[in-house]
Amino acid sequence: MRPLRIAVTGAAGQIGYSLLFRIAAGDLAGERPVELRLLEVPGALKALEGVVMELNDCAFPLLAGVEVGSDADAVFDGVDLALLVGASPRKAGMQRSDLLQANGAIFAEQGRALSEVAADDVRVVVTGNPANTNALIAYRNAPGIPRERFSALTRLDHNRARAMVARRARLGVDEVEQLTIWGNHSSTQYPDLFNARINGISAARWLGDDAWLNFDFIPDVANRGAAVIAARGSSSAASAANATIEHARDWLLGTEPGTWTSMAVPSDGSYGVPEGLVSSFPVTCEGGDWSIVQGLALNAFGRSKLEASVEELKREADVVESLGLLGAG
Ligand code: NAD
Ligand code: LMR
Repeated sequence: MRPLRIAVTGAAGQIGYSLLFRIAAGDLAGERPVELRLLEVPGALKALEGVVMELNDCAFPLLAGVEVGSDADAVFDGVDLALLVGASPRKAGMQRSDLLQANGAIFAEQGRALSEVAADDVRVVVTGNPANTNALIAYRNAPGIPRERFSALTRLDHNRARAMVARRARLGVDEVEQLTIWGNHSSTQYPDLFNARINGISAARWLGDDAWLNFDFIPDVANRGAAVIAARGSSSAASAANATIEHARDWLLGTEPGTWTSMAVPSDGSYGVPEGLVSSFPVTCEGGDWSIVQGLALNAFGRSKLEASVEELKREADVVESLGLLGAG
């Protein structure tokens, strides 16, 4: 089988160092061989050479090749999947949206390059922050690629929420299902336990503790990234790499039947989220395509949380529009 060509940007960074080895070991594409295309800024190419030496030293049977470079048009040529990780991380005290100006231009340029040289059916995952609005920038600058092929990472929030609920309920994570992160990958996100299920009933009802839900769970999920930065001195890396792999693997190979995951995707207007904004939704994936799970009930609390997060996404879109980053598309 032809190797899956996977581009990874920011490959010499923290997340890259966790991501590349797992992709090469088969965690993303299963038994299909992979070819890695690694993009970095010129100043990081030497460090990246060392990472490539280590990749080779692992003798991964599924790793069919590695190419590196700092020219997006060359590195993205013919890629089937692009994992856009490369961007500055925030520091303690910053919100992710503070990175818009620093990082936005990266995604305009990479969207353009992907549109010109990637494979016709390329799929693009944005991990670099602020991920939702960077994905908006990327697809608006990629007129040759349908916008449904762009997505942003909220799987890390999804995994964090699932693990916190499982710990609270003293159950395994597999017993917490149908959890959804709605909105932005930011402190306004809404992790929804009303539609999540434990043993077939609403997780909010199963836990029966509104105080924990409102004052611990929701803020803890929403601020977990900042807590990791405060503890580690730098932003989450191994868990972000894991989430990026799970997001891409589910997109390409399909979600488990009977449940769903959370992905930030360009809205089709579902749940009142304005069309085109990149918002997190409950999604299922099949045959390489995602669909938003329809018909979930959002109570007044959930609706107001989603609306607040959507307002933030609108404000971010206005900022990048005023910076001239939304292209023509
Ligand atoms: P890092 O600073 O360790 O690495 C980033 C790398 O990107 C660096 O090596 C840098 O040289 C490279 N880079 C910068 N501009 C580039 C460009 N134009 N093209 C290619 N490479 C470029 O940061 P990190 O910890 O790996 O985090 C990367 C991004 O991921 C940050 O924006 C961070 O906030 C974000 N992040 C997102 C999530 C999420 O859940 N969405 C989770 C964790 C981190
Ligand atoms: C995270 O959620 O860990 C990342 O988005 C990094 C951050 O800035 O919080």
